Amino acid sequence: MKQATHISLTQRALAHIDAGTTDLSPEVIRNAVASYTDNNWLQREQDTLFRSYPLFMGLSCRIPDPGDYLSEDFAAVPILMIRGDDGQVRAFVNMCRHRGAPLAKNCGNKANFTCPYHAWRYNKQGKLQVIPDQDSFPGIDKGAHSLIPLPCAEQDGMLWVIPNPDATINLAEHLCGMDEDLANYDLARYSHYEGRVLERRANWKMPIDTFLEAYHFATLHRDSVASIFHQNLCLFDDFGLNLREAVVRKSIKHLREQDQSEWDFVRHTAISYQLFPNTVFVMQGDHLETWRIFPLRNQPDQCIIYFDCYVPEPAVTAKARKYWDANVALAIRTVDTEDIAMQIDIERSYLSGVVDHVLIGRNEPALAHFQMSVERAVRGENPVERETTK
Ligand code: FES
Ligand SMILES: [Fe+2]
Repeated sequence: MKQATHISLTQRALAHIDAGTTDLSPEVIRNAVASYTDNNWLQREQDTLFRSYPLFMGLSCRIPDPGDYLSEDFAAVPILMIRGDDGQVRAFVNMCRHRGAPLAKNCGNKANFTCPYHAWRYNKQGKLQVIPDQDSFPGIDKGAHSLIPLPCAEQDGMLWVIPNPDATINLAEHLCGMDEDLANYDLARYSHYEGRVLERRANWKMPIDTFLEAYHFATLHRDSVASIFHQNLCLFDDFGLNLREAVVRKSIKHLREQDQSEWDFVRHTAISYQLFPNTVFVMQGDHLETWRIFPLRNQPDQCIIYFDCYVPEPAVTAKARKYWDANVALAIRTVDTEDIAMQIDIERSYLSGVVDHVLIGRNEPALAHFQMSVERAVRGENPVERETTK
């Protein structure tokens, strides 16, 4: 984030604190319950959002060295990302060209990728190198049976992939100006501290929804984080289908005594970037937490959540590990046992079919934007235009 942005956001936050106000949507939104419960709608989401849009896969530190790889099973196609000997990151469909077995699971490092089924071997660039008993495959050209590449990018310390071999990736177009904010965080220097995987009985959008308003802090988080934030105060800005929402720590009052050139808005807020479609990227002042969420088992009421905590420098001392462990514990306790537990209960209510819509208030502008972005992308409408919400 540039200093000019630190200043403008801080000014907006202080003005809201003084006036007892918050950023607002133009109107109350009626949000269709079916988008959380309907099998056909989920199928349409999977065919569009999880097939045609760049998915955030993590920071570069997840695969820093040649031969490092990571896989992802829950997008439209299985994904394998590999860093090559030339330092380039490449992505492939994680399917052997013999009979389709995944070449690798989870993450790790390999000199080459030997299929666990019948031992076809590929190099880090996805080229098929060895077919055991090749005489049994007459006429099969190894050169024509490389792993199928996927469009991917590594930019400003972030890894992206589109799970569609026929797509092209254009991050500048997708991020719609948000890349400038992200680039200024110097994410290439961050280290991965810890990851968790959670399977929960809620629609994949529900865990995202929880990050997109501060209206619930005073009640749902009264025993955890409510005391450190201003209640019912958010700053919302849209970037095409993506958004930035800042909730404001009470410590921001100290900036009133500092020169604007020193204002650090990030340190006195929690900033949730919703990286469309399925990631919430939370800058927490001194570290980063990401929540990547996918539908699970083709069920509208099931999701898999990947939580990752990244820190600005490797945690090498016991003191540092204790500090970051406490941060991870607070994140999991707040989000999983308070926010997501609530979403599971809400999902059950939605599945009862008693109501066909719920309400999103004007004080929940980021949530409204996310829901409208999903709707417009699934329906194939033009990307959301910039809206005046202040
Ligand atoms: S499926 Fe990979 S070698 Fe047979
Ligand atoms: Fe929350």
